[in-house]
Amino acid sequence: MAGRIPREFIDDMIARSDIVEVIDSRVRLKKAGRNYQACCPFHNEKSPSFTVSQDKQFYHCFGCGAHGNVISFLMEYERLEFPEAVEELANYHSIEVPREQGSTPKTTPQQKQQKQDDYELMENAARFFAQQLKVHPEKQKAIDYLKSRGLSSDIVKAFGIGFAPPEWDTVLRAFGQDPHVQQQLLDLKLITENDRGKRFDFFRDRIMFPIRDKRGRVIGFGGRVLVDGGPKYLNSPETRIFHKGHELYGFYQAKQAHRNLSRVMIVEGYMDVVALAQFGIDYAVASLGTATTPEHIQMLFRTSTEIVCCYDGDRAGREAAWRALENALPYLKDGVEMKFLFLPDGEDPDTLVRKIGKDEFESRLLKDAVPLSRFFFDNLLQRHHVGSAEGKAALKTEALPLIEQIVGDNQRAMLSNELSIFLGEQNRHKLQSDVAKANQHGSMAKLDFGKLNKSEISPVRTMLRLLLDNPSLASQCQDANPRLLQHTSIAGIPLLSEVFDFCISKPQANTAQLLEQFRGHQQSNHLARLLNNEFTEQHPIKVFQDSFAKLLEWHLQSRMDELMSIARVRTLSPTEKQEFNLLVKEQK
Ligand code: UTP
Ligand code: MN
Repeated sequence: MAGRIPREFIDDMIARSDIVEVIDSRVRLKKAGRNYQACCPFHNEKSPSFTVSQDKQFYHCFGCGAHGNVISFLMEYERLEFPEAVEELANYHSIEVPREQGSTPKTTPQQKQQKQDDYELMENAARFFAQQLKVHPEKQKAIDYLKSRGLSSDIVKAFGIGFAPPEWDTVLRAFGQDPHVQQQLLDLKLITENDRGKRFDFFRDRIMFPIRDKRGRVIGFGGRVLVDGGPKYLNSPETRIFHKGHELYGFYQAKQAHRNLSRVMIVEGYMDVVALAQFGIDYAVASLGTATTPEHIQMLFRTSTEIVCCYDGDRAGREAAWRALENALPYLKDGVEMKFLFLPDGEDPDTLVRKIGKDEFESRLLKDAVPLSRFFFDNLLQRHHVGSAEGKAALKTEALPLIEQIVGDNQRAMLSNELSIFLGEQNRHKLQSDVAKANQHGSMAKLDFGKLNKSEISPVRTMLRLLLDNPSLASQCQDANPRLLQHTSIAGIPLLSEVFDFCISKPQANTAQLLEQFRGHQQSNHLARLLNNEFTEQHPIKVFQDSFAKLLEWHLQSRMDELMSIARVRTLSPTEKQEFNLLVKEQK
């Protein structure tokens, strides 16, 4: 692994780059007022709602909610990982990317070579296992097994399925003559070593499923026993090239089959992926004996707009689906969709597709798959009974933080709308959504908060918004430090404090750099959302200070209320009395 890219370098790359130039070279931009516009490259649209702000070095699509700085754009548009996007910018400026030394050392040319050798050895091993289906003396039992599972020889070839012979040392003998390669076999877990130092094949007497990464390189294997009894699958352990949480079985094949892989289906097993592909449903992937991770979801939503999670209808299947849902929320932008298909008892996709065939399977995908919103509330309402106030409160407590994570404005609004119906808070919600709608459909370039009822915007949000626009404001208003309120119960103070601290430490930062600091932060979406509305404030310092004063006042008032209610049940302690008197004075 390469070392980390220093933070300052990333900031410097953002400062040097002009987001308008970078985007314009890929998507033609048109000047519109102070901003630039285009049809959004991240969803289909006829009239432009993709807006790029040169001042803020930030883009935002009012249609699908895509947003971010220049690095985010390259990640999304070029489908790059974060460090690759930074590399891309650095290349553009003809600068070498520095890497921090430390826990993760810089990749040396030797390590690079090592990786290539690793991939080559794994590929050869996969070929070797496939070859055994043709040459091994006991090949017939493996072939019979595959036949008994209904696999065609074409699909066996397409997925490179093979056979690990029953002997202790076929792989060891075929590849391990050279001590250097033998060590490599050990590192890649193709062979293993017992307490006494004896080495032997890791996979024996198994049907072998090579696992490929998204570029098609073999990085691990899953091996199935031929005769049931005992653990059914043995999977390659994590190695220097195999990280389960990041890989999906079948993803490479699905991408090969579809230039635009608009829909993917997540299933549980290797056999399911292969059987579905054999029947023409060639867009299924399986996580490798782990839960569906955020990395999986992120990887899939980079290529697809629809993910269908196909799980058992039993309790375990529903729990797995819920975990997948939780992991998906931060990646749910507008324009993408996640659905859940629960299978009848005792079926998995493999058995079902063999029974009902492709067409019927796909028509069930259309008919029976439930949208995320429905599964979300079905699940929550089973656990919280909204007949009572307590049940409503519990529902709200669990649902709100989840809904808040959704990045797409429309999707988030839809779920919070539904939540408010269950809570009986429809009217309050309607007000909020009207405001949000006015924001979205108004003339984008000109819209400002001045048009909204100012009281709709909480002081915390106002302060955040002002800092986002102008990070140097914090140094100009050092007295209005939200840290002073950190022990209060006012919502949003921790985030505001973090942002304020950053602005104090980097007064010259621009909006894009500030956002970069919060990439991957739990509430980074919240920040990006605040930026969605054009906002101009003639007197930022005054408004910032006034908002802070309002927060202080709220706090003092609520502390006073608290002391008064304590006083009703017991006498206040001398310190409490003193505090109360101070508060009263403060109020005057
Ligand atoms: P399943 O038991 O559903 O596997 O486990 P399957 O693919 O349907 O297998 P068949 O049809 O019996 O051949 C789902 C997945 O869980 C992991 C594997 O990744 C498997 O594909 N698993 C299962 C293991 O890692 N180890 C096991 O012992 C069992
Ligand atoms: Mn199965």
